[in-house]
Parts: sequence; C-alpha cells; structure tokens
Amino acid sequence: GVLWVSAESGRIKGFDWKAQDDEAFYAFMSRHGWIDVDGKTNGNLGGATKVKIVEAREDKNEFFFPGFIDTHIHAPQYPNAGLFGSSTLLDWLETYTFPVESRFGTQPSKPGQSQDQKPEDTPESALHVYDQVVSRTLSHGTTCASYFATIHVPATNALAAICHTRGQRAFIGRVCMDNPDFCPEYYKDLSAEDSISATKDTIQYIHTLDPKGVLVKPIVTPRFAPTCSRPALTSLGQLAASYNPPLHIQTHIAENKNEVALMKELFPEADSYAAVYDQHNLLTPRTILAHAVHLSQEERNLVKARDAKISHCPASNSALGSGIAPVRDYIDEGITVGLGTDVSGGYSPSILEAARQACLASRLLGHTKDFIEFHSHSHDAGYASKYAEGREKLSVAESLYLATRGGAAVVNMENDIGGFEIGMIWDAQLIQLGSVRMSGSSPLSSIVNMNGGPSTSLIKSGPVGNVDLFGNESWEEMVQKWVWSGDDRNVKAVWVGGRMVHWRG
Ligand code: GUN
Ligand code: FE
Repeated sequence: GVLWVSAESGRIKGFDWKAQDDEAFYAFMSRHGWIDVDGKTNGNLGGATKVKIVEAREDKNEFFFPGFIDTHIHAPQYPNAGLFGSSTLLDWLETYTFPVESRFGTQPSKPGQSQDQKPEDTPESALHVYDQVVSRTLSHGTTCASYFATIHVPATNALAAICHTRGQRAFIGRVCMDNPDFCPEYYKDLSAEDSISATKDTIQYIHTLDPKGVLVKPIVTPRFAPTCSRPALTSLGQLAASYNPPLHIQTHIAENKNEVALMKELFPEADSYAAVYDQHNLLTPRTILAHAVHLSQEERNLVKARDAKISHCPASNSALGSGIAPVRDYIDEGITVGLGTDVSGGYSPSILEAARQACLASRLLGHTKDFIEFHSHSHDAGYASKYAEGREKLSVAESLYLATRGGAAVVNMENDIGGFEIGMIWDAQLIQLGSVRMSGSSPLSSIVNMNGGPSTSLIKSGPVGNVDLFGNESWEEMVQKWVWSGDDRNVKAVWVGGRMVHWRG
C-alpha cells in the first residue's frame, strides 16, 4: 500500500491500497475495524499541501499496522523486567519495586522540601534507564505510552523530555504516595501537600515543554489507594478537574485479592475499592484503571457509569499470579478496555506480547473458579443462557484491536490514533514477516550438503525474525503467526505524527 501523509500535520491525507496489489490485506484490516473504507478510496490530497509518501511492499511480506498503545507501564521499573521470582503484588512492591524506584532521585528530608529537588539530583543511571525504556518500547512498535515515573520531580520531568525528544507520544505521571502506614520510610511523599505541590511542578514543566500537548501530556497519578492519604486523594481529584480540559488520571485497582482485602481495612467507610476512587472524584472518563482483575458487579457498574477506562495487563497478572481479568465481560458491558505491559509486573515491554498473553489468559479464564461461579449465579437466567460457551476467548484480531483502537479510546484519542482513516494521525509501524522461500529459488541441494548433513545457510539467509511463512498463508493467517511468534525483529519502522522515530537498519 502507498500512503500520503501531510508533512505539516502528520495526518493521513490519502492512500492507495491497490498500488502494491495488496487489497487482500486491507480487506482484512477493514473487516476487523482498523479502516472503514473499501480500500480503494483516495483522499483529497489538497493541491499545494506538502505530503510524504510511505510504502509497504506486499511482495516482501510487509504491511502497515497502527502503532501500539501501552496504556500502563512503569518506566523506572524497566531494570527489573523479568525479576519477580515467586512474589505476589504486596511483597513484590516491597522487595523489588520500591527499592528500584527510590534510586531515581533524593527524598526530601522534611515536609515542604520537595521543591528543593534539582535536576542534578537525578543520577545518570536513571536517565539511562529512561532512555533505554523509550528506545525499547519504540522498537516494539509502541507509539503511545502512559507512563508511571517515580515520586521525583526532576527525573519525571527528564522522562517527559526524553519522550518529547525521541518523538514518542506519552502521558507522564509523577507517582503520588504519601501514606506512611503503607509506603516505605525511604520512598514516599512526606505530606499530602508535598504530593500535590510536586505534582503541580511536573504538570507545569510538561505544559511548558509541550504547551499544546501535541506529544507529551501530564497525567495525575495516585499510585493506588493504599499508598495515598484521604487528603491527597481528594486534592488530586480536584487538581485533575481544575484544568480545561481536565487532566487524565491513572492508578491501579483490584489487581490482587490481598490488596482488595487491605482496602477493606484501610477504607472501612467505603462500599468498595472503586467507590474510594469515586468518592475522591478520581473515576472520570479520563481515568485509566490498571488491572481490574477482581471487581465486583457493583464496581463494574460504577466504572461503566463514570466511563472510566480499564488497562488490561495480562502478562503482569500471570507473572505476579494476580488472576485473570474478565475482559469479554467488560467489553460486553460497554467498558472501554486497552492493553498495558505493566513493566515490570509484566516482564516484557512489548504490546505484541501483551496481545498474545491476552489471548492466552482468555483461554484459561473459563477454567477458573471465580469465573465459573460468576457466570453460574450472579446474572439472571437470560444472561447466562445468552453467554455462549467459550465466549470469553479473545481472537488474535480482537486482542490487536485492544492494543490499538482500544488503547486509543482509553486515552480519549480514538479520533486521532489507533486506526488508519483519512485525517487520523500517522502513528504506525511497518511490519515485515519472514520471507517466503519459493520452491526453485532454493533447491534442496543448496541446503543439504553433499554428505547429507544440514547446511546452516537456511536460517542465516532466510526469514526476518521468528516468523516463517510458506507462501500459502492468507493475511488472516499471517497476522495470527505475527501475534503468536513475532517480536521486535519484525518491526521495520515506526512513525509518530508522521515522523519516523525508529527503524531497523
Ligand atoms: N500497585 C501499586 N503499585 C504498583 C506497581 O508498581 N505495579 C503494579 N503492577 N501494581 C501496583
Ligand atoms: Fe502497574
């Protein structure tokens, strides 16, 4: 396919899927909802407007795909990717997570001193980690990410600057955690006031860095209710609402059963975990709730009523043994869902891996006690009979949809990113799968040496990455192979807002 992208706005001006004889691929894209055209429509190129042409070659097994949106990732935890042992959420936070995050700056010694943090308080190693995580997520096709940083203002600002320079679309959150009963002595905001003033500092920095929020925006980030005092939660809700438009908000909810039990102890006055956020005006249409593994029906109804969004983090939920989120139920109930890597609860910075794990987790969900109980008696008989057996399973196309269109809706950017329509922003990846080895082009004699032993030339000269094609796959099948065995080696180039921000040499 050939595309024209406006050099000024970075938006799609027109396309010609027929140019490379790859109508079949775009019929596939149209069938699953990434484009809503018949694949033959050219846009209005608008005379004098500067456009650049980008091209995917079907004869090289290339195709464009919307950039991935990671709706939940902890940038400072990247050094811990893959390190979690057999821990579960609450001991994992204490053992692995708070220590790594605490190294991103210095903690003020007295309340009111959070303003004293200086850029030079950020260790070189912290900047290195942030540069690494942005490089790595871009190389996996993540064009937009909602990041949790740490409590440190200078390092958080540095993360925003790195995303801005490297050209990754990002929401940047300074983590708020001021509850001394839960947070460790060595890593916490010293008061609710400090938490708010430090948050304001970061918001102001990002608004100066990118005044129109073209690429980078601040996001209000109470870590999760157990780490926050009631006054901090109240003020953060007010702070988000005080901007026009209101700021985005991100936090965690109902990830783990012990966490849910702890919430009951910490907030005995509230009806539920979700109700705690609601009471503090933190459940809004611009709120991203990570995990949502163990929500009650009442909580789901509340999330839906407030139009808050859910970030599904299946790799993390399996790694930390948190459980399996009932994604199909959420979608059926009209809740907006996207995917998150949750690095480093999640071991991988790849949203393709998250899509794969979403498929796998959904196939195990029907075997869990909670799910069986829920679907046997918590709904009316009419619903139960309508719920077809196996309906909880997500298809490859559906999990990719969550990774793109779903994520875009989670960050309220569904009109701009996540799909390919004229006028949408060119946030995209060029995928290449393994080359097809035509019979005749590699006669058996060249891959089996004269003594009958195998030659090593087949793998060396052949496929791109880990996906082998045999020449007879439909596009539907090629995309399935991509999800099940693809990785960053298949990502040839990545664009954000029409700018190429990553390519494989
Ligand atoms: N809950 C509170 N903090 C965290 C975190 O850093 N990661 C995950 N997965 N859950 C959390
Ligand atoms: Fe998380």
